[in-house]
Amino acid sequence: MNSYESVSDHKNEKNVFIIIGILSALVLAFLVWLIYFKPGEDLESKIGWVGYLPILNAFLNTLTSVFLITGLTFIKQNKIEWHKRFMFAATGTSALFLVSYITYHHFHGDTKFIASGFIRPLYFGILISHILLSAIQVPLILSTLYLAMEKNFIRHKKIARITFPIWLYVSITGVLIFIILRWFNV
Ligand code: HEM
Repeated sequence: MNSYESVSDHKNEKNVFIIIGILSALVLAFLVWLIYFKPGEDLESKIGWVGYLPILNAFLNTLTSVFLITGLTFIKQNKIEWHKRFMFAATGTSALFLVSYITYHHFHGDTKFIASGFIRPLYFGILISHILLSAIQVPLILSTLYLAMEKNFIRHKKIARITFPIWLYVSITGVLIFIILRWFNV
């Protein structure tokens, strides 16, 4: 590689990370507006299928967790092609989750937690850590994928070791939040 190529590659990479940053900030701003500022439509009672979306979301989060653990197992065995397939599958189920989550919150609005006792601090502890980590998850996933597609596996591995536990934590706590809401918030 000559010096001109390396300078232009570096610039190109910087631009990609800027685009990832802007895209992630837009997604985050949209979600904050959707959940906390948009007036509730309360159309859920009129549109029956909306009530099933939390189950779909929990299912998609479960699939993401399974795909992530399977993908990690494959790379530990040096099976790169299978690692790639399962990480793409996890990206797919997470993207579908985002669409389903946005649809649900468009119709439903914020969920109030009314249960009391030990479950309350536990629920909010899980919820707050889940929300904070999910906000940094989008740029991490996109950067990890980008570095892998660029075949920059040294940096891919470095950032993936941060992305992986955060992504898995957010997916598993997503399912836990669903379970707590179903069992305790009645
Ligand atoms: C966002 C999706 C992805 C995540 C979260 C991810 C996660 C990881 C993790 C955690 C490792 C380090 C494993 C270890 O500790 O030994 C790793 C390594 C690796 N990943 Fe990924 N990966 C993703 C996508 C991909 C894709 C699409 C490819 C494409 C081929 C890929 C190729 C590799 C390779 C070749 C390594 C080994 C690097 C080395 O040991 O030098 N990954 N990945």
